[in-house]
Amino acid sequence: MAQYSAVIGAGTMGLGIAYVLAAAGDTAILVEPDAGRGAEAIGTLTGVAQSAVKRGKLEETAAKELIERISVVDAVEALPTEGANLVVEAVPERIELKKALLPAIEKHCAPAILASNTSGLSIDELATVLERPERFVGLHFFNPVWVMSLLEIVKGAQTDPAVLEAARALAIRIGKDPIVVKNMPGFATSRLGVAIGLEGMRMLEEGVASAADIDKAMELGYRHPMGPLRLTDLVGLDVRLDIARNLSKDLGPRFNPPQILIDKVAAGELGKKSGKGFYDWTE
Ligand code: 3HC
Repeated sequence: MAQYSAVIGAGTMGLGIAYVLAAAGDTAILVEPDAGRGAEAIGTLTGVAQSAVKRGKLEETAAKELIERISVVDAVEALPTEGANLVVEAVPERIELKKALLPAIEKHCAPAILASNTSGLSIDELATVLERPERFVGLHFFNPVWVMSLLEIVKGAQTDPAVLEAARALAIRIGKDPIVVKNMPGFATSRLGVAIGLEGMRMLEEGVASAADIDKAMELGYRHPMGPLRLTDLVGLDVRLDIARNLSKDLGPRFNPPQILIDKVAAGELGKKSGKGFYDWTE
Protein backbone atom coordinates (compact mmCIF):
# COMPACT_ATOMS: atom_id res chain seq x y z
CA MET A 1 0.00 0.00 0.00
CA ALA A 2 1.53 3.33 -1.08
CA GLN A 3 1.99 5.81 1.74
CA TYR A 4 1.30 9.50 1.36
CA SER A 5 1.01 12.83 3.20
CA ALA A 6 -1.85 15.20 2.41
CA VAL A 7 -2.18 18.95 2.73
CA ILE A 8 -5.64 20.52 2.75
CA GLY A 9 -5.65 23.88 0.97
CA ALA A 10 -3.29 25.12 -1.75
CA GLY A 11 -2.91 28.66 -0.43
CA THR A 12 0.51 30.13 0.34
CA MET A 13 1.09 27.90 3.36
CA GLY A 14 -0.44 24.72 1.94
CA LEU A 15 1.80 24.97 -1.12
CA GLY A 16 4.86 25.48 1.04
CA ILE A 17 4.02 22.55 3.31
CA ALA A 18 3.46 20.21 0.35
CA TYR A 19 6.79 21.37 -1.08
CA VAL A 20 8.83 20.60 2.06
CA LEU A 21 7.12 17.22 2.52
CA ALA A 22 7.90 16.29 -1.08
CA ALA A 23 11.44 17.62 -0.68
CA ALA A 24 11.85 15.13 2.19
CA GLY A 25 10.74 12.29 -0.10
CA ASP A 26 7.01 12.02 0.73
CA THR A 27 4.30 11.58 -1.84
CA ALA A 28 2.41 14.81 -1.13
CA ILE A 29 -1.20 15.26 -2.21
CA LEU A 30 -2.73 18.73 -2.10
CA VAL A 31 -6.49 19.01 -1.70
CA GLU A 32 -7.82 22.21 -3.31
CA PRO A 33 -11.48 22.60 -4.27
CA ASP A 34 -10.86 25.85 -6.17
CA ALA A 35 -10.12 24.66 -9.72
CA GLY A 36 -8.11 27.76 -10.68
CA ARG A 37 -5.91 27.58 -7.62
CA GLY A 38 -5.50 23.82 -7.99
CA ALA A 39 -4.40 24.24 -11.61
CA GLU A 40 -1.78 26.85 -10.66
CA ALA A 41 -0.29 24.84 -7.77
CA ILE A 42 2.18 22.66 -9.67
CA GLY A 43 3.39 25.59 -11.79
CA THR A 44 4.03 27.70 -8.70
CA LEU A 45 5.90 24.88 -6.96
CA THR A 46 7.94 24.19 -10.08
CA GLY A 47 9.03 27.84 -9.93
CA VAL A 48 10.14 27.37 -6.31
CA ALA A 49 12.10 24.23 -7.20
CA GLN A 50 13.73 26.00 -10.15
CA SER A 51 14.71 28.87 -7.89
CA ALA A 52 16.31 26.34 -5.50
CA VAL A 53 18.26 24.86 -8.46
CA LYS A 54 19.46 28.32 -9.51
CA ARG A 55 20.65 28.96 -5.96
CA GLY A 56 22.58 25.70 -5.92
CA LYS A 57 20.33 24.21 -3.20
CA LEU A 58 18.91 21.41 -5.34
CA GLU A 59 20.07 19.29 -8.30
CA GLU A 60 18.01 19.57 -11.51
CA THR A 61 17.01 15.88 -11.33
CA ALA A 62 16.06 16.11 -7.66
CA ALA A 63 13.91 19.17 -8.44
CA LYS A 64 12.07 17.26 -11.17
CA GLU A 65 11.51 14.26 -8.90
CA LEU A 66 10.36 16.52 -6.05
CA ILE A 67 7.66 18.05 -8.24
CA GLU A 68 6.64 14.61 -9.56
CA ARG A 69 5.91 13.56 -5.96
CA ILE A 70 3.27 16.34 -5.63
CA SER A 71 -0.25 16.01 -7.01
CA VAL A 72 -3.51 17.89 -6.58
CA VAL A 73 -7.05 16.58 -6.03
CA ASP A 74 -10.22 18.61 -5.58
CA ALA A 75 -11.74 16.97 -2.48
CA VAL A 76 -10.79 15.01 0.63
CA GLU A 77 -12.88 12.12 -0.71
CA ALA A 78 -10.58 11.95 -3.75
CA LEU A 79 -7.58 11.04 -1.57
CA PRO A 80 -6.60 7.35 -1.52
CA THR A 81 -8.62 5.63 1.21
CA GLU A 82 -5.54 3.89 2.59
CA GLY A 83 -1.94 4.91 3.19
CA ALA A 84 -2.27 8.40 4.72
CA ASN A 85 0.49 9.00 7.28
CA LEU A 86 -0.09 12.66 7.93
CA VAL A 87 -2.73 15.19 6.95
CA VAL A 88 -2.05 18.88 7.51
CA GLU A 89 -5.01 21.23 7.34
CA ALA A 90 -3.95 24.64 5.95
CA VAL A 91 -7.24 26.34 5.13
CA PRO A 92 -8.00 29.99 6.07
CA GLU A 93 -7.81 30.98 9.73
CA ARG A 94 -11.53 30.68 10.52
CA ILE A 95 -12.46 28.31 13.29
CA GLU A 96 -15.87 27.38 11.88
CA LEU A 97 -14.34 26.51 8.50
CA LYS A 98 -11.69 24.33 10.12
CA LYS A 99 -14.22 22.65 12.42
CA ALA A 100 -16.49 21.90 9.49
CA LEU A 101 -13.67 20.25 7.53
CA LEU A 102 -11.82 18.25 10.18
CA PRO A 103 -14.37 15.44 10.81
CA ALA A 104 -14.46 14.46 7.12
CA ILE A 105 -10.65 14.46 6.95
CA GLU A 106 -10.41 12.33 10.09
CA LYS A 107 -12.98 9.87 8.79
CA HIS A 108 -11.41 9.49 5.36
CA CYS A 109 -7.74 9.39 6.39
CA ALA A 110 -7.76 7.43 9.68
CA PRO A 111 -5.47 6.48 11.33
CA ALA A 112 -3.23 9.25 9.97
CA ILE A 113 -1.88 11.89 12.31
CA LEU A 114 -4.05 14.94 11.80
CA ALA A 115 -2.47 18.38 12.12
CA SER A 116 -3.60 21.97 11.83
CA ASN A 117 -1.33 24.70 10.52
CA THR A 118 -3.34 27.24 12.49
CA SER A 119 -1.41 30.40 13.46
CA GLY A 120 -3.11 30.69 16.82
CA LEU A 121 -6.54 29.09 17.08
CA SER A 122 -7.11 26.70 19.96
CA ILE A 123 -6.04 23.16 19.17
CA ASP A 124 -8.32 21.97 21.97
CA GLU A 125 -11.35 23.72 20.53
CA LEU A 126 -10.62 22.30 17.07
CA ALA A 127 -10.24 18.86 18.68
CA THR A 128 -13.81 18.97 20.01
CA VAL A 129 -15.11 17.92 16.58
CA LEU A 130 -12.80 14.89 16.37
CA GLU A 131 -13.41 11.30 17.39
CA ARG A 132 -9.69 10.75 18.07
CA PRO A 133 -8.41 14.03 19.52
CA GLU A 134 -5.32 12.19 20.72
CA ARG A 135 -4.16 11.92 17.06
CA PHE A 136 -4.41 15.72 16.61
CA VAL A 137 -1.58 18.26 16.96
CA GLY A 138 -0.70 21.78 15.83
CA LEU A 139 2.04 22.04 13.19
CA HIS A 140 2.62 25.75 12.57
CA PHE A 141 4.87 26.44 9.58
CA PHE A 142 6.39 29.79 8.54
CA ASN A 143 6.40 31.59 5.24
CA PRO A 144 8.35 31.00 2.98
CA VAL A 145 8.09 27.40 4.20
CA TRP A 146 11.03 26.20 2.05
CA VAL A 147 13.30 28.76 3.73
CA MET A 148 12.11 29.17 7.32
CA SER A 149 13.59 26.65 9.72
CA LEU A 150 11.08 26.88 12.58
CA LEU A 151 8.27 24.41 13.12
CA GLU A 152 6.04 25.35 16.07
CA ILE A 153 4.48 22.18 17.42
CA VAL A 154 1.36 22.82 19.49
CA LYS A 155 0.42 20.25 22.07
CA GLY A 156 -3.29 19.98 22.74
CA ALA A 157 -4.60 18.81 26.13
CA GLN A 158 -5.42 15.44 24.58
CA THR A 159 -2.50 15.06 22.15
CA ASP A 160 -0.95 11.61 22.65
CA PRO A 161 2.74 11.88 23.68
CA ALA A 162 3.53 9.42 20.86
CA VAL A 163 1.94 11.83 18.36
CA LEU A 164 4.00 14.67 19.80
CA GLU A 165 7.14 12.57 19.37
CA ALA A 166 6.11 11.76 15.80
CA ALA A 167 5.67 15.50 15.16
CA ARG A 168 9.16 16.16 16.49
CA ALA A 169 10.60 13.38 14.34
CA LEU A 170 8.76 14.77 11.30
CA ALA A 171 10.25 18.22 11.93
CA ILE A 172 13.77 16.80 11.96
CA ARG A 173 13.10 14.62 8.90
CA ILE A 174 11.92 17.60 6.83
CA GLY A 175 14.84 19.76 7.99
CA LYS A 176 12.97 21.96 10.46
CA ASP A 177 13.95 23.03 13.95
CA PRO A 178 10.98 22.40 16.28
CA ILE A 179 9.72 24.10 19.41
CA VAL A 180 6.89 22.62 21.46
CA VAL A 181 4.39 25.09 22.87
CA LYS A 182 1.34 24.93 25.04
CA ASN A 183 -2.02 25.52 23.44
CA MET A 184 -2.42 29.23 24.26
CA PRO A 185 -3.86 31.91 21.91
CA GLY A 186 -1.25 32.90 19.34
CA PHE A 187 1.18 30.26 20.70
CA ALA A 188 4.76 31.60 21.00
CA THR A 189 5.11 33.10 17.54
CA SER A 190 1.91 34.80 16.36
CA ARG A 191 1.30 36.57 19.65
CA LEU A 192 4.61 38.43 19.42
CA GLY A 193 4.89 38.68 15.65
CA VAL A 194 1.37 39.98 15.11
CA ALA A 195 1.71 42.47 17.99
CA ILE A 196 4.65 44.11 16.17
CA GLY A 197 2.83 43.99 12.84
CA LEU A 198 -0.33 45.65 14.17
CA GLU A 199 1.69 48.33 15.99
CA GLY A 200 3.56 49.07 12.76
CA MET A 201 0.21 49.60 11.00
CA ARG A 202 -1.05 51.91 13.76
CA MET A 203 2.19 53.90 13.45
CA LEU A 204 1.61 54.22 9.70
CA GLU A 205 -1.98 55.39 10.36
CA GLU A 206 -0.67 57.98 12.83
CA GLY A 207 1.87 59.27 10.31
CA VAL A 208 4.93 58.39 12.43
CA ALA A 209 6.90 57.57 9.27
CA SER A 210 6.45 56.04 5.82
CA ALA A 211 5.95 52.27 5.48
CA ALA A 212 9.49 51.96 4.13
CA ASP A 213 10.98 53.89 7.07
CA ILE A 214 8.96 51.98 9.69
CA ASP A 215 10.29 48.78 8.15
CA LYS A 216 13.82 50.15 7.91
CA ALA A 217 13.65 51.01 11.64
CA MET A 218 13.22 47.34 12.51
CA GLU A 219 15.53 46.03 9.78
CA LEU A 220 18.49 48.22 10.69
CA GLY A 221 17.68 49.05 14.30
CA TYR A 222 16.73 45.56 15.44
CA ARG A 223 18.18 43.37 12.69
CA HIS A 224 14.81 41.92 11.66
CA PRO A 225 15.33 40.42 8.21
CA MET A 226 12.22 42.22 7.03
CA GLY A 227 10.18 45.04 8.62
CA PRO A 228 6.67 44.40 9.97
CA LEU A 229 4.77 45.95 7.04
CA ARG A 230 6.74 44.20 4.30
CA LEU A 231 6.34 40.99 6.29
CA THR A 232 2.57 41.53 6.43
CA ASP A 233 2.63 41.87 2.64
CA LEU A 234 4.49 38.55 2.45
CA VAL A 235 2.16 36.74 4.86
CA GLY A 236 -1.01 38.23 3.36
CA LEU A 237 -3.09 41.07 4.83
CA ASP A 238 -6.19 38.83 4.85
CA VAL A 239 -4.30 36.20 6.85
CA ARG A 240 -3.07 38.76 9.37
CA LEU A 241 -6.58 40.25 9.67
CA ASP A 242 -8.05 36.84 10.51
CA ILE A 243 -5.29 36.20 13.08
CA ALA A 244 -5.77 39.65 14.66
CA ARG A 245 -9.52 39.11 14.94
CA ASN A 246 -9.01 35.72 16.57
CA LEU A 247 -6.41 37.08 19.00
CA SER A 248 -8.51 40.11 19.92
CA LYS A 249 -11.32 37.73 20.93
CA ASP A 250 -8.96 35.77 23.18
CA LEU A 251 -6.41 38.33 24.38
CA GLY A 252 -8.32 41.59 24.27
CA PRO A 253 -8.41 44.90 22.40
CA ARG A 254 -4.64 45.26 22.03
CA PHE A 255 -5.04 42.85 19.12
CA ASN A 256 -7.95 44.74 17.49
CA PRO A 257 -7.11 45.09 13.80
CA PRO A 258 -6.20 48.66 12.77
CA GLN A 259 -8.62 50.33 10.34
CA ILE A 260 -5.93 50.50 7.64
CA LEU A 261 -5.73 46.69 7.64
CA ILE A 262 -9.52 46.28 7.48
CA ASP A 263 -9.74 48.83 4.63
CA LYS A 264 -6.93 47.32 2.60
CA VAL A 265 -8.36 43.82 2.82
CA ALA A 266 -11.80 45.15 1.79
CA ALA A 267 -10.13 46.81 -1.22
CA GLY A 268 -8.50 43.53 -2.23
CA GLU A 269 -5.01 44.76 -1.30
CA LEU A 270 -3.79 41.49 0.19
CA GLY A 271 -0.04 42.01 -0.20
CA LYS A 272 2.46 40.28 -2.47
CA LYS A 273 -0.01 37.68 -3.74
CA SER A 274 -2.47 40.32 -5.02
CA GLY A 275 0.23 42.73 -6.26
CA LYS A 276 -0.47 45.43 -3.66
CA GLY A 277 -0.49 45.77 0.10
CA PHE A 278 1.58 48.25 2.05
CA TYR A 279 3.88 48.14 -1.01
CA ASP A 280 3.39 47.79 -4.75
CA TRP A 281 4.52 44.31 -5.87
CA THR A 282 3.51 44.55 -9.50
CA GLU A 283 7.05 45.06 -10.80
N1 3HC B 1 14.65 26.96 -2.07
C1 3HC B 1 15.62 26.81 -1.15
N2 3HC B 1 16.21 27.86 -0.54
C2 3HC B 1 15.82 29.09 -0.92
C3 3HC B 1 14.83 29.30 -1.89
C4 3HC B 1 14.25 28.16 -2.49
N3 3HC B 1 13.31 28.27 -3.41
N4 3HC B 1 14.64 30.63 -2.03
C5 3HC B 1 15.48 31.22 -1.18
N5 3HC B 1 16.19 30.29 -0.52
C6 3HC B 1 17.25 30.52 0.48
C7 3HC B 1 18.39 31.30 -0.13
O1 3HC B 1 19.25 30.49 -0.87
C8 3HC B 1 19.07 31.84 1.12
O2 3HC B 1 19.78 30.81 1.76
P1 3HC B 1 21.23 31.08 2.40
O3 3HC B 1 20.95 31.95 3.60
O4 3HC B 1 21.71 29.71 2.76
O5 3HC B 1 22.03 31.76 1.34
C9 3HC B 1 17.85 32.19 2.00
O6 3HC B 1 16.79 31.36 1.52
C10 3HC B 1 17.41 33.63 1.89
O7 3HC B 1 17.10 33.91 0.52
P2 3HC B 1 17.46 35.29 -0.21
O8 3HC B 1 18.87 35.61 0.12
O9 3HC B 1 17.10 35.24 -1.62
O10 3HC B 1 16.42 36.28 0.37
P3 3HC B 1 16.54 37.29 1.54
O11 3HC B 1 17.85 37.26 2.22
O12 3HC B 1 16.01 38.56 0.98
O13 3HC B 1 15.48 36.67 2.58
C11 3HC B 1 13.43 36.05 3.48
C12 3HC B 1 14.14 36.51 2.25
C13 3HC B 1 13.91 34.66 3.87
C14 3HC B 1 11.93 36.01 3.17
C15 3HC B 1 13.78 37.04 4.64
O14 3HC B 1 13.46 38.35 4.25
C16 3HC B 1 13.05 36.73 5.91
O15 3HC B 1 13.45 35.88 6.69
N6 3HC B 1 11.93 37.46 6.13
C17 3HC B 1 11.10 37.23 7.29
C18 3HC B 1 10.23 36.03 7.05
C19 3HC B 1 9.34 35.76 8.20
O16 3HC B 1 9.41 36.37 9.26
N7 3HC B 1 8.43 34.79 8.03
C20 3HC B 1 7.46 34.42 9.02
C21 3HC B 1 6.16 35.05 8.69
S1 3HC B 1 4.91 34.69 9.88
C22 3HC B 1 4.29 33.21 9.35
O17 3HC B 1 4.60 32.72 8.30
C23 3HC B 1 3.32 32.58 10.27
C24 3HC B 1 1.96 32.36 9.66
O18 3HC B 1 1.12 31.87 10.66
C25 3HC B 1 1.34 33.52 8.98
